[in-house]
Amino acid sequence: MPRLFKKIKEIRGFIRDLKCKGNSISVGFVPTMGYLHEGHLELMRRSKIQNEFTVVSIYVNPVQFGPGEDFRQYPRDLERDLALCEEVGVDAVFAPEDKEMYPEPPITKIEIPGLTDRLEGLHRPGHFNGVAIVVLKLFNIVQPDRAYFGEKDYQQLKVVERLVKDLSIPVEIVPVPTVREKDGLACSSRNVYLSPEERQSATAIYKSFLLAQKLFQSGNRDPEVIKDAIKDFLLKHPHVRKVDYVEITDDNLNPTDEVKEGDRILLALYVGNTRLIDNWRIGHEAI
Ligand code: PAF
Repeated sequence: MPRLFKKIKEIRGFIRDLKCKGNSISVGFVPTMGYLHEGHLELMRRSKIQNEFTVVSIYVNPVQFGPGEDFRQYPRDLERDLALCEEVGVDAVFAPEDKEMYPEPPITKIEIPGLTDRLEGLHRPGHFNGVAIVVLKLFNIVQPDRAYFGEKDYQQLKVVERLVKDLSIPVEIVPVPTVREKDGLACSSRNVYLSPEERQSATAIYKSFLLAQKLFQSGNRDPEVIKDAIKDFLLKHPHVRKVDYVEITDDNLNPTDEVKEGDRILLALYVGNTRLIDNWRIGHEAI
């Protein structure tokens, strides 16, 4: 079993001692909200390859959820998660209680104009402030050399990269490609909310990326045409209730007038009551 830490002071002391013992020990860090899936396990495997020591955090961060979002229902199962961490060979797990992480509600704000106020930020006000606070806090606690983030949450990855750059945080951010199920649905802890019928409809997301890819390959470069085709396709599927957004941007999330290879399609939609997000790099090969 990985060593389990619940207190900030204890994991900090442990990492400090570890680094004192061997100068060359690098610490890889995988921040998660638990209910681990293949996507998380891939992040952990990458960390294991690149570092001598791998820490995983398991913490459902209340400050990144808005009112009416799924903070309370978010799936939690620490025993199951610890067993999965053990299978992959994770060395330590940090799983704090809320009162340990936030003895008082944080009042600090972290905004990155142009990055945190678009796409997810527009539909989930305050979300990226909450993500940035917890990620920065976790970096300060674990003091990793490398941290692993999935491209599934592409905007989050860009926000964290920028935070690290602007504040000179001494950690290397390692992006890891999205892990998909056999039928193309991106792995997500929220997939457990889907009924079997909704789960079937959710495959429309991946299919819509393939449709966009086909339009691009046949010479279409107009983002509006491609976005409309994706929206129409998605909304034809049963249980796809609402599309929050479909956007096409360059790889730094700037809007694009003419679609080119390497641009990203980003979308968010509701399948039944479950809000899912996904993204696709134009020119990326299908699974
Ligand atoms: O991607 C997630 O699971 C969360 O947003 C993160 C990075 C662990 C912060 O709570």
